[in-house]
Amino acid sequence: MLSAEENDRLCRVGPGSPVGEALRRYWVPAFQLGDLPEPDAPPIHVRVLGQDFVAVRDTSGRYGLLDELCCHRNASLVYGRAEDGGLRCLYHGWKYDLDGRILEMPNCADDRLRARFRQGDGWTNDPTETRRYRLPAQDRRAMAVRASYAGFRGGNRPQDAAVQGVNGRTSRFSRANENLVPADAAVIRFRRLLLEAARAVEHGGEPPARGEGFDFSGVRAAAEVVDDRAPWQDLVPGNAGRTATATAP
Ligand code: FES
Repeated sequence: MLSAEENDRLCRVGPGSPVGEALRRYWVPAFQLGDLPEPDAPPIHVRVLGQDFVAVRDTSGRYGLLDELCCHRNASLVYGRAEDGGLRCLYHGWKYDLDGRILEMPNCADDRLRARFRQGDGWTNDPTETRRYRLPAQDRRAMAVRASYAGFRGGNRPQDAAVQGVNGRTSRFSRANENLVPADAAVIRFRRLLLEAARAVEHGGEPPARGEGFDFSGVRAAAEVVDDRAPWQDLVPGNAGRTATATAP
């Protein structure tokens, strides 16, 4: 069981927190490619490690992640327009490329300012503790007529988010009240690893297994009960011993 102090460390993932700093050394999934199905698709809100971003796909099809709030006067870029190679804020029309460079400032003719400002990305902004989550309402009627098991549209993600209590509230809770069972072994191990990674970073080191030199593109998951003497690696033979073909960041 985690102590209250360990639980607190584990749950804080914002910039400057020990676990947050460790997690920011890894690749972190932010959204699915299908969320931005075509070039210049409507941008989407993405929350990663307590920070709010806007994900955008530009005219050439490249993907980008920028701070959600416009660096001009903090309008939300989620409501912006992806057009002509950038993302335009609806408030005063500033337009950014995917690296945050300002392409256009319709309300400012001074090009020196255009070069000086930049829309932040990847982990520069401060987390806002009370951002809203817009989860679909639970459809009890659909559940009652067995048209939906959990009453949420959109698959597992909204329903998982709802049951974990993030609908307008923090998902942080005391794990001292948990009753873990053997099936939770992976969760327990993962938490230990995360705390160890945070400790390593705090002491000036690097977290373990960042993946340099490994090609993750062939990694697959498998779920099956196997005999306790059977090599579990056989379930996913393609995962073992792959030769590096690309360098991870
Ligand atoms: S707030 Fe975005 S352009 Fe002014």
